[in-house]
Amino acid sequence: MSLLEHLDADLRERKAQGLYRHRRTVDGPQGVLQQLDGREVLSFCSNDYLGLAADPRLAEAMRDGSRCYGVGSGAAHLISGHSRAHHLLEEELADFVGAERALLFSTGYMANLGVLDALLGRGDTLLQDKLNHASLIDGAMLSQARLKRYLHGDMVSLRRQADSAEGNLLIASDGIFSMDGDLAPIPDLVEVAEELDAALMIDDAHGFGVLDDFGRGSVRALGLSMTQVPIYMATLGKALGTAGAFVAGSESLIETLIQRARPYVYTTAMPAAVAEAARASLSIVAEESWRRERLAELIAHFRQGAQALGLQLVDSPTPIQPILLGDSNTALAWHEALLQTGILVTAIRPPTVPAGSARLRVTLSAQHELAQVDRLLAALRSLTEATL
Ligand SMILES: Cc1ncc(COP(=O)(O)O)c(C=O)c1O
Repeated sequence: MSLLEHLDADLRERKAQGLYRHRRTVDGPQGVLQQLDGREVLSFCSNDYLGLAADPRLAEAMRDGSRCYGVGSGAAHLISGHSRAHHLLEEELADFVGAERALLFSTGYMANLGVLDALLGRGDTLLQDKLNHASLIDGAMLSQARLKRYLHGDMVSLRRQADSAEGNLLIASDGIFSMDGDLAPIPDLVEVAEELDAALMIDDAHGFGVLDDFGRGSVRALGLSMTQVPIYMATLGKALGTAGAFVAGSESLIETLIQRARPYVYTTAMPAAVAEAARASLSIVAEESWRRERLAELIAHFRQGAQALGLQLVDSPTPIQPILLGDSNTALAWHEALLQTGILVTAIRPPTVPAGSARLRVTLSAQHELAQVDRLLAALRSLTEATL
């Protein structure tokens, strides 16, 4: 059988294992109430943690940006696509997190690929937490460095993996783990990195905008400086409600990425209008701390209610609040049952999470009302009662 003739059998197999993925079509803006496949749902699955994705101030900045710069950026940053808007956003991001420089990428996926590709090569070693995001794992392949994965958040395992490391060493970890919501032990990682003379990279896709009084992310929230975490990456498509990503660090790090990161060099710059929207968002994120306070209230309310139902949660202080169910078909069945009551929560299954740890990934947004969280808890109560 040829390659293409295998596809149908493979798809049937995925369906049988409860691993088949479907897209649903959204009409209208992002928000906790969404039009999905033609009906209104109460959504608990977006990464729009601060509720900014459909904020009119961002839309206006984007409209003004497109009037000023046009819609497409026309070329890569190194050719003629690097606009004043991109440049100002980079300066503002560096200033905000407290780093020397920042560099924009079109997506977080590309930023991770870009850093690892630019800094590592054959003969080097990349140490990664086992639960790191797929983009860091894929970056390892692009870099051709030797990949060694340590047990989740486990410094003993990290040190053991480092024993047989060779070449230049880089430790990479999510700041907040995307499917679990827990925080990486960043102070311990800083210590081990110093001990091993390794570079440390934190992917703060889910912490940026959410943690710290001003939303400067997990590193600053823990009272660490950006020199202790010399490679900081965060995305703009989650709490900031726009799109793209950035890497922050020293002058020499950023200049190296500009010279060598293939996912930076060989791609069209993100539209300047998106950069203008991100600039507007950044000042809202810093000023409107009520959004983070509201999230904290919602997180506490959800955890208390879910624990009272006997649901298995992860030790997560963040808006990512997974409910562990184990089996993929159970996760899918709960997802479907919730959807029947008009509530959208995604079922996350292997290979996105390890086998046997399928879950419902509940995410909260500053836009949720306490009553909406209660509606979710009531629906979960019915499901737990039905399974007993
Ligand atoms: C931890 C983490 N890193 C990187 C990414 C990739 O970011 P982007 O969606 O901007 O490509 C994501 C999610 O998408 C993520 O959860």
